[in-house]
Amino acid sequence: MMSDTPLWASEAFWKKTAIWVTAGAFILLVVLTFDSLKQTSPGHSRVPAFAVINQAIDYQYKPELHKSVPVIGGTELLFNTTYSEEEAKALVDLGKKTVQAKNCMNCHTLLGNGAYYAPDLTKAWLDQGWLNTEQREQQMLAFLQNPEKNARTFGSNRKMPNLKITEDEAKGIIAFLKWMSGIDTNGFPYNFKTLYAQE
Ligand code: HEC
Repeated sequence: MMSDTPLWASEAFWKKTAIWVTAGAFILLVVLTFDSLKQTSPGHSRVPAFAVINQAIDYQYKPELHKSVPVIGGTELLFNTTYSEEEAKALVDLGKKTVQAKNCMNCHTLLGNGAYYAPDLTKAWLDQGWLNTEQREQQMLAFLQNPEKNARTFGSNRKMPNLKITEDEAKGIIAFLKWMSGIDTNGFPYNFKTLYAQE
C-alpha cells in the first residue's frame, strides 16, 4: 500500500539525513585534525624543527602580509654547541617540562595562554630587555636562576620570584623559548620590536 506522506515529511528520511550529516561532519573533523597536526608538528609549515635552536631567529613585520613572521637566519649557536635534532629535542623538552613543573603560566602567557600578571613569553627570546645578542644567553641564565638578584625591567614594574631553577633547567628553558620564538603564530604578538630591530 502506498503511503500518503511525502518523502521530506517521513521520519525515515530525516533519520537517514541525520546519519549522513553526522558521518560527513565526522569525516571532515578527522581530515581537519590530521591537517592541523601536520601544520603544528615540529619541522612542518608553522612550527620549526628543534634544531632551529642552532640558528638565528628573528620576527619581522611584512607589510604585504600585514603581520610579523619568524625569519630563520644563518648559524647562531646556543651555548656554543651544535645540537643534533635529537639533542635539541631533549633540551627543549627539559625546558618545556620545567615550565610546566614550575607553573610559569600562573603569571605568564605562552602563545597567548596563561595569566596576565607577567609578560607573554612567546617571543621572550627576542625581547629588547636582554639589551644585545652577545649578552643575552648569560643574562637569561642569570635571570632565570635568580630573578630577584638579576632583576631586569620588562616594563611590568613587577618582580619575578626565585623559583629555584637549576642551571641545566635554565638552559632547557632558554632553548624552549628560542624554539618557541620560531613558531609562526599568525602575527601574535602584534607590533613586537625585537632585539635585532634595535641593533
Ligand atoms: C609569580 C609570578 C611569576 C612566575 C610564576 C614566573 N614569572 Fe617570569 N616574570 C614575572 C614577572 C613579574 C616578570 C617581569 C619582571 C620585570 O618586568 O622586571 C617576569 C619576567 C620573565 C622573563 C622576561 C620576560 C621577557 O619579556 O623576556 C622571562 C623569560 C620569564 N619571566 C620566564 C619565566 C619562566 C620560564 C617561569 C617558570 C619557570 C616564570 N617566568 C615564572 C613573574 C613570574
